[in-house]
Amino acid sequence: MSVIQRSRTGADRQVRDRQRTAERLLASSAKLSFDPLKDVDWSAAPLPGRYYCPPRHLSLYGTELWERLTEEQRIELSKHEVASIAGVGIWFEEILMQMLLRHAFDRDPTTAHVQYALTEIADECRHSVMFARMISWMGVPAYGPGRLSHELGRIFKATSTHSQTFGGTMYVEEILDAFQRELMNDESLQPLTRQVSRIHVIEESRHISYAREELQRVHLGPVRRRWEQLFIGLIVLRTTKSLINPRVYAAVGIDPRVGREAARTNPHWRAVKTELASKVIGVLDQAGLVGRTNRWLLRRAGVLAAAA
Ligand SMILES: [Fe+2]
Ligand SMILES: [Fe+2]
Repeated sequence: MSVIQRSRTGADRQVRDRQRTAERLLASSAKLSFDPLKDVDWSAAPLPGRYYCPPRHLSLYGTELWERLTEEQRIELSKHEVASIAGVGIWFEEILMQMLLRHAFDRDPTTAHVQYALTEIADECRHSVMFARMISWMGVPAYGPGRLSHELGRIFKATSTHSQTFGGTMYVEEILDAFQRELMNDESLQPLTRQVSRIHVIEESRHISYAREELQRVHLGPVRRRWEQLFIGLIVLRTTKSLINPRVYAAVGIDPRVGREAARTNPHWRAVKTELASKVIGVLDQAGLVGRTNRWLLRRAGVLAAAA
């Protein structure tokens, strides 16, 4: 078989694989999708004495500042940190919706692959409304990812390459997934944040399959690979740093600068981030997107152990 024939067979196989995956994901979406406006009880009041996420996932957990907080303040901090993460979720989902639209724009709309991209955009649209409703329900500010991330997102959503689109997506979706899986399974937490997490986890599992397969389909040469690694490292660093907006600390009487510094040097928070990211770092590694070029950035983001 000639080189041309061989590459044609590979391309045909890729088209078939894409089609098959997308058909499966479309069938699953038709069977199980949610309408957060109806499937979440927005009229329910928060239950007193319940955390909004497991306390061990909070950025100050285990620090001296944490020891000084009352139980009530700790619960309050959990509410603000969940709201901050939801705000980052909206920021990234809005970026992702535009990246997926760019992906669909250049392709045949009659393929299941493009129809699933459009279905995913519809999912993300409902998720962003759901997160926004949750932030309002909590009665806390929409913290957002901070000014710098917001402005970088403006460029990224317009210029991202294939690997950056699906690598960045995998990272954000997987760390949120790991965080929300624990949240939805913990019966001691607020029922509303558990239900929001459950809806998100179920619908995101399809998005993760779609992004993972797209990532593995692209073969990168050595120079291009380095460039993409560097970019993925920067995305990981920026999104991880943005998760907890320092303004949340003011809600429990802690100076935002003091809170940010305590979180930055908190080994427990670092271990939680490494744990949440462990699966996705493995997937990125398999796709050739972890290497010398970005390991230092991943360590700086606190998602890779020092010795790794
Ligand atoms: Fe989502
Ligand atoms: Fe998603």
